[in-house]
Amino acid sequence: MKRVVLAYSGGLDTSVAVRWMIEEWNVEVVCVLVDVGQDADTSESFDDVRARALGAGAIECVVVDARHEMANEFCAIAIAANARYEGKYPLVSALSRPVIVRHLVDQARKFNAQAVAHGCTGKGNDQVRFEVGAHALAPDLEVLAPARNWGMTRADSVDYAMKWDIPIKATKDKIYSIDENLWGRAIECGAMEDPWATPPEEPMTLTRVRHTEPVDLTVSFIRGVPVSIDGVEMPLADLIKTLNDRAGATGFGRIDMVENRRVGIKSREVYECPAALALIAAHADIEDLVLERDVHHEKARLETRWAELVYDGMWFSPLKEALDAFIAETQVHVTGDVRLRFEAPGMMRIMGRRSPKALYDHGLATYDAHDSFRHADSEGFVKIYGLGVKTWAARQGAKNATPPRS
Ligand code: ARG
Repeated sequence: MKRVVLAYSGGLDTSVAVRWMIEEWNVEVVCVLVDVGQDADTSESFDDVRARALGAGAIECVVVDARHEMANEFCAIAIAANARYEGKYPLVSALSRPVIVRHLVDQARKFNAQAVAHGCTGKGNDQVRFEVGAHALAPDLEVLAPARNWGMTRADSVDYAMKWDIPIKATKDKIYSIDENLWGRAIECGAMEDPWATPPEEPMTLTRVRHTEPVDLTVSFIRGVPVSIDGVEMPLADLIKTLNDRAGATGFGRIDMVENRRVGIKSREVYECPAALALIAAHADIEDLVLERDVHHEKARLETRWAELVYDGMWFSPLKEALDAFIAETQVHVTGDVRLRFEAPGMMRIMGRRSPKALYDHGLATYDAHDSFRHADSEGFVKIYGLGVKTWAARQGAKNATPPRS
């Protein structure tokens, strides 16, 4: 009998998928629940979720704690890359999928499975991330997508779960689709499907305003990695949690955007990601201070590409690996402190930054008596820099050279 390892979330779709694959495809199902920090505000324990998988018919349900792995190997690189898809979205769901894929393949090997499976539908990015990722890590494994084949509506799935006595919490009229992990929350559906409609407060957790006084804190980085808040060192996963809480309390970290999915659909998404946005802004700010100009400008171009690759499911790909190497090389001197101020509702300002590796030279930058810049050197520089344009203007003429006369 074929054995399948399923990426299990504990929700309706993946619970139904367990029984459906057993019935329709006559397979054995092993569930893998990867904890990437999604427990933040659910009332259920992983034991309850595990019991549901077994209740649905799985022969085993493995729970893997991947929170530190997610932080240290995935969020850390995303910070170094200042990664924001389409200039906005810090890749919350996109970052967690390769973590899950890695464990899926790992468990498939342990259980001698011939296939891995996921519960995604055919309309989203996550199917792409799971499948391309699984093929990259295990070209020999088959990838199954039951929810893409079964043609059931949500109501059908609830009926199916009832019929098989699968203990689900879901109801037929679930309003929102929410995906969450350490790096933040992605919220879709309901009233938000109209891009003109104001997003409801109801599904928000991290960015509800619950602290109206300004919050000041200092984040310190060593070689591009955030290591402490106000001098208190902590593992990155804890630092992210702390910031989600403290910055999110002032309402900071909400993004409302229309984005381009890989599958050609534009979708309206609302994200809550206080720590991600704060850390990327702080990190980019130290880079302003320490990166040499050409490196800095080139990095900005490649960051865009890096975010697109990760969004598009290419975490495990040769271009992404090559860009990782470039980004790592740029982080050697990204060490320093950034002072952040959060003010309700939802504002963040950078109040100051410093670095022992700063290329900022006060003697060169100042306009006061300590000025060490040789002003006379600029004369020849500017003449030669502008020579081509001067020649062009004299011989061919610039367009629109005269201001309009009234
Ligand atoms: N649009 C985001 C992405 O593709 C989030 C998708 C998360 N899924 C969800 N069920 N809300 O990365």
